[in-house]
Amino acid sequence: MENQLFDVLIIGSGAAGLSLALRLPRSLSIGVVAKGSLTEGNTYYAQGGISAVLDKTDSMDSHIADTLNAGAGLCDEATVKLVVEKGPESIQWLLEEGVSFTLNKPGEPGYHLTREGGHSHRRVIHAADATGKEVESTLQEQAQAQGNIKLFEYHNAVDLITAKNLSDTEKRCFGAYILDKKSGLVGTFRARFTVLATGGASKVYLYTSNPDVSTGDGIAMAWRAGCRVVNMEFIQFHPTCLFHPHAKSFLITEAIRGEGGKLLLPNGKRFMHKFDERAELAPRDIVARAIDHEMKRLGADCMFLDISHKPKRFILEHFPTIYSKCLEFGIDIAKQPIPVVPAAHYICGGVLTDHHARTDIPNLFAIGETAYSGLHGANRMASNSLLECLVFSQQAAEEIVRQSDQTPEPPEIAPWDESRVADSDEQVVVSHNWSELRHFMWDYVGIVRSNKRLQRAKRRVNLLRQEIKEYYGHFRVNNDLLELRNLVEVADLIIRSAQERKESRGLHYTIDFPDRDERFQKRPTVLLPDNFDAKFALED
Ligand code: FAD
Ligand code: SIN
Repeated sequence: MENQLFDVLIIGSGAAGLSLALRLPRSLSIGVVAKGSLTEGNTYYAQGGISAVLDKTDSMDSHIADTLNAGAGLCDEATVKLVVEKGPESIQWLLEEGVSFTLNKPGEPGYHLTREGGHSHRRVIHAADATGKEVESTLQEQAQAQGNIKLFEYHNAVDLITAKNLSDTEKRCFGAYILDKKSGLVGTFRARFTVLATGGASKVYLYTSNPDVSTGDGIAMAWRAGCRVVNMEFIQFHPTCLFHPHAKSFLITEAIRGEGGKLLLPNGKRFMHKFDERAELAPRDIVARAIDHEMKRLGADCMFLDISHKPKRFILEHFPTIYSKCLEFGIDIAKQPIPVVPAAHYICGGVLTDHHARTDIPNLFAIGETAYSGLHGANRMASNSLLECLVFSQQAAEEIVRQSDQTPEPPEIAPWDESRVADSDEQVVVSHNWSELRHFMWDYVGIVRSNKRLQRAKRRVNLLRQEIKEYYGHFRVNNDLLELRNLVEVADLIIRSAQERKESRGLHYTIDFPDRDERFQKRPTVLLPDNFDAKFALED
């Protein structure tokens, strides 16, 4: 059994987790755990880029206004201002770490900036169409080279260790129980500060752009430990994932539309202008709903995205990954349109945090996609997410340094107790429930919702929660069981939040309340866990 002690334990090795590890002082001992390989996470697959005000003709006010506009009245304005204003220095930090971004054409100085939905300027800096790969690989190299950072791949955080595991009555986080996926043993990783950087939760849906690790573990762990979660109903469906039986939810970046790509019906006609005057560059919620609408209206399997009018040289230069991936499936994007469908992509809600990335539990922080910082409101604008990871990792680093001198080492913790559990006799229960959950979430809690669909989903999720609770109590933990337990928790939070919001706004659309209701303006959906303790929590 592996037991560890750190100053800072970071759960997650994406843009948020690794940036934090690198921004903390080298005098602190840091443990970073990742459920799969170090690079596996949403960050690695990011295509479009990172938004920041980098061009003289752009302005902070404009980036702020676009973000607020996409967020449909639910962004926290102070958070938006903080993130946008720290954008340029975050990009500068990445450059100093060694990230290379695509340059402008020879003769034109500076970096190439692309455009995506909702942005009124070109402000998305990128590394061709594989920005995440470039960022993640560079940060990984830097973290591996730093002696104070210990990296644990294939380690799955099971639950946070809080006062409830001790006789102590003071509520604090002391680290986490961690399953070593190779040995199957659960160790105790104690830390003075624990940070959730576990990324997204879109694996709760049948079709998603996210890799397998995105099962909402951080949100579920924080909820079980007593943290509030906010705005879980706002799931972003990316309008354009490659439609092909063998393409496992491969994303077709919005930057294709930013560079002039057109959405087409199966008969080759454009349709986006019927839904929004910004046509293909309307925010994602509008584009995804329009595609969903047209697919249902026509009984079509997919819509099409066409960039073939651009010179092949331009396509190869800007979208080399997409070009070669599509070619693997026999689609030459320089000559023909790409079949596309929407898929679950991003969760705007998450663990409630403040401007220092603190949560409701002292010594527990949350950053990146797992956190709710207030930046995205009811709909995230493209390329604002990596920016949020960068800004809040810096905010968390500063706060940890500030608290460091007054924060003692955690006490001894009781080891993980497996004395009353056996090896699973029917793993099929787990695989069956995984598949059932993801199906009904897609069908009933997807792009278009209704009261009846949400009620159906709620009944099913209640049943699954009960079954998994019993199973969890009797059998030894393994990766699939842990992920399913978290997915069910997150699904329940999404459904409950969707039921509370009796209006349509941003990414939440229900046919029973199809309009925006001004009574919900500036009212995020806040869920309180049963064990919420206001004495230690963040102030409202
Ligand atoms: P991730 O990068 O997802 O990292 C999560 C980490 O947590 C992983 O290391 C994982 O192993 C670990 N983890 C999870 N659970 C556990 C556990 N229980 N125990 C241990 N470790 C755990 N955003 C943009 O701004 N611009 C883009 O161009 C863009 N393109 C995208 C394209 C795709 C295909 C996808 C899926 C997303 C895209 N996004 C983009 C969104 C953005 O990539 C993510 O929101 C962001 O990368 C999240 O970073 P993160 O560090 O919070 O999480
Ligand atoms: C994309 O490249 O279309 C994804 C951008 C994002 O999710 O921010």
